[in-house]
Amino acid sequence: MSLSKCHQLSSLLCKQQKNLRLMSTWWSKVQQGPPDSILGVTEAFKCDQNPQKINLGVGAYRDDNGKPYVLPSVIQAENQLIKKNLDKEYAPITGISEFCNEALKLALSSESPIIKNKCFASLQSLSGTGALRVGGEFLYKYAPLKTIWVPIPTWGNHGQIFKFSGLEVKTYRYYDPKTCGLDFAGMVEDISSAPQGSVILLHACAHNPTGVDPKPEQWKELSALFKKQDLFPFFDMAYQGFASGNVDRDASAVRTFLSDGHQIALAQSFAKNMGLYGERVGLFSLTTLDTDEAARVLSQLKIIARGMYSNPPIHGARLVAEILSNPQLKDQWLVEVKGMADRIISVRHQLKDLLVKEGSVRNWGHITDQIGMFCYTGLNKDMVKTITEEHSVYLTNDGRISMAGVTTKNVAYLAKAIHQVTK
Ligand SMILES: Cc1ncc(COP(=O)(O)O)c(C=O)c1O
Repeated sequence: MSLSKCHQLSSLLCKQQKNLRLMSTWWSKVQQGPPDSILGVTEAFKCDQNPQKINLGVGAYRDDNGKPYVLPSVIQAENQLIKKNLDKEYAPITGISEFCNEALKLALSSESPIIKNKCFASLQSLSGTGALRVGGEFLYKYAPLKTIWVPIPTWGNHGQIFKFSGLEVKTYRYYDPKTCGLDFAGMVEDISSAPQGSVILLHACAHNPTGVDPKPEQWKELSALFKKQDLFPFFDMAYQGFASGNVDRDASAVRTFLSDGHQIALAQSFAKNMGLYGERVGLFSLTTLDTDEAARVLSQLKIIARGMYSNPPIHGARLVAEILSNPQLKDQWLVEVKGMADRIISVRHQLKDLLVKEGSVRNWGHITDQIGMFCYTGLNKDMVKTITEEHSVYLTNDGRISMAGVTTKNVAYLAKAIHQVTK
């Protein structure tokens, strides 16, 4: 073929490609995705003009005036950090080491033999979500079975985090709508049916969305079951301290499994208990048989993190390290986290009492039995629709309310509205 013919042919091909692109853009086949079920509630709330409107959708703490709360211990840590005049260099792939050490001590206790014997691999993560995602990826690569079992219901993001990691997601029974409590028999039966080597996701405390946790003796039973069936526990601990107001009590399920000799995976978040939502501070840890296994596991976790985001952000982790490594500041923080938990426990009682005062004959015991940020009210989809349309109370379709959005100022209005739609 002559040179000019070849030229003509290639410019024709070019034109054809351009035409193709004009006809359909690169992304013409991309479908509209559904809005996030929780953030969608906030959008609808913003558009409502009713001055008495209440947003109980979002899982972030609010003070008794309904305002976001920056913990005084965090403000003090921030002031101390400014004085240190630190640089903004990259953190190592594993994050700020002082943060990693302090965060694991908080979960396992400083007396933990795992920490003393260095039988763990830990890596700073992009909050709890990032810890679950890195953990999911590691499990997909190295767990004997590529399946993770999650409770029904569970936090709305668990399913996609683990699917995106490549894992198959299966479910076990957890919540009993008849009692608004734990379906322990169903949970045990379903977990017993999981094949040996399966990974089981457990909410360490303050189960989201139900606020229903196993009792200490039930955790003990579950630990024995995991041993018998050779199952691997992956604890998601997003609310340590926030549930009962006591960081040790909220870590007791994790510590029970460890003292029974389990190896575990653990995802920690400092979003709720330190109010560091947007700072994205968390930790992912795996306990190991010995230090050699710890080194090998950590090397693989680093490879995963490097390929995802290189290294984690520094500011929030420095704040947590500053608080946890300073005994006075840590004591102050423990009081503040208890203050948040106590406010929530107190509005739970107020809501229940006001519902009785309104004349409701339903059993509302679950409002105070459930724990942590959320209450699974038992309101069905129709009731949720009515309370939103007629009373401007915004919550997710499953009837979950964030107790953090309830205050001494709006609790009476809320009780009235709940009674109206449930009588
Ligand atoms: C059960 C549970 N796990 C993990 C997370 C992750 O939160 P974050 O990524 O903000 O730490 C949340 C947040 O709501 C949660 O409820």
